[in-house]
Amino acid sequence: MARPKIALIGAGQIGGTLAHLAAMKELGDVVLFDISEGTPQGKALDIAESGPSEGFDARMKGTNDYADIAGADVCIVTAGVPRKPGMSRDDLLGINLKVMKSVGEGIAAHAPDAFVICITNPLDAMVWALREFSGLPHNKVCGMAGVLDSARFRHFLSLEFDVSMKDVTAFVLGGHGDTMVPLTRYSTVGGIPLPDLVKMGWTTQDKLDAIVQRTRDGGAEIVGLLKTGSAFYAPATSAIEMAEAYLKDQKRVLPCAAHVDGAYGLKGMYVGVPTVIGAGGVERIIDIKLDRDDQAMFDKSVDAVRGLVEACKGIESSLA
Ligand code: APR
Repeated sequence: MARPKIALIGAGQIGGTLAHLAAMKELGDVVLFDISEGTPQGKALDIAESGPSEGFDARMKGTNDYADIAGADVCIVTAGVPRKPGMSRDDLLGINLKVMKSVGEGIAAHAPDAFVICITNPLDAMVWALREFSGLPHNKVCGMAGVLDSARFRHFLSLEFDVSMKDVTAFVLGGHGDTMVPLTRYSTVGGIPLPDLVKMGWTTQDKLDAIVQRTRDGGAEIVGLLKTGSAFYAPATSAIEMAEAYLKDQKRVLPCAAHVDGAYGLKGMYVGVPTVIGAGGVERIIDIKLDRDDQAMFDKSVDAVRGLVEACKGIESSLA
């Protein structure tokens, strides 16, 4: 059986890391696409040359021609610009919306059967626009945010409790922005929910609140440290986890920016929710019951995403 084909649209910091991870995990042959001449070719060759030492079998190709992504099984989109210090993800909207138009058209023309994972920010609005521009089925287009946000949450919790990250589960809902909703009731250490751990004296409510806030600000913390760009190792790893779930039909339960139509009382919009990802793409949306406070936070997050989608419609008339 031929190896799966993974197209990476955008060969910058995240794109290059995605290519390296996909090769090391032997998920398939990789095509790196970018408008910048030489960048995808250089990164593809560099990664290919790490193959003999690492011992992976994966072809790497760098290109500036959409025709080379033909027949891709998975497309991961990072094309666009990242944040600089002081910028919010929303500040990227105007520039990255134009990028989503060309990417959506490129995928529609050359890889219409792919499972598409968008990473470009502002995530929830960009994945919506990418779906609109590409015309692909909703279940085949999703956005990577929840896996990253929960990974950040899990990392901070594992430090606080001094336990393995493997034993920490976390649950983050809503848009990928300042209004994201880390749900402590559904986040656990070895199956024990966080509020119980507070009662058991493992931590205090104040410390937990600070960890929740640090999770919300997780992207900005990295931007502030790097100064010249945004996070790329953890975002790439998170998207690879989603791509692997699709390619291997793992039916993983992963939070992602998915098209929600009916669940959570929403009518056809992209926002971060728990999903099941398998060979059918986003196969299921898990519609959990929220308590009053969580619902209020989720509503606020949904409103923020709606505002960005409306802004997109204002900029690009074909989306209205
Ligand atoms: N088509 C293809 N590639 C493009 C286009 C386009 N129209 N416009 C820009 N690019 C490419 C750039 O040439 C660059 O190589 O996208 C790449 C983006 O890479 P970086 O600037 O290194 O950004 P990165 O850190 O990878 O983040 C990409 O993901 O997390 C989000 O906020 C982040 O929106 C940003 C995106």
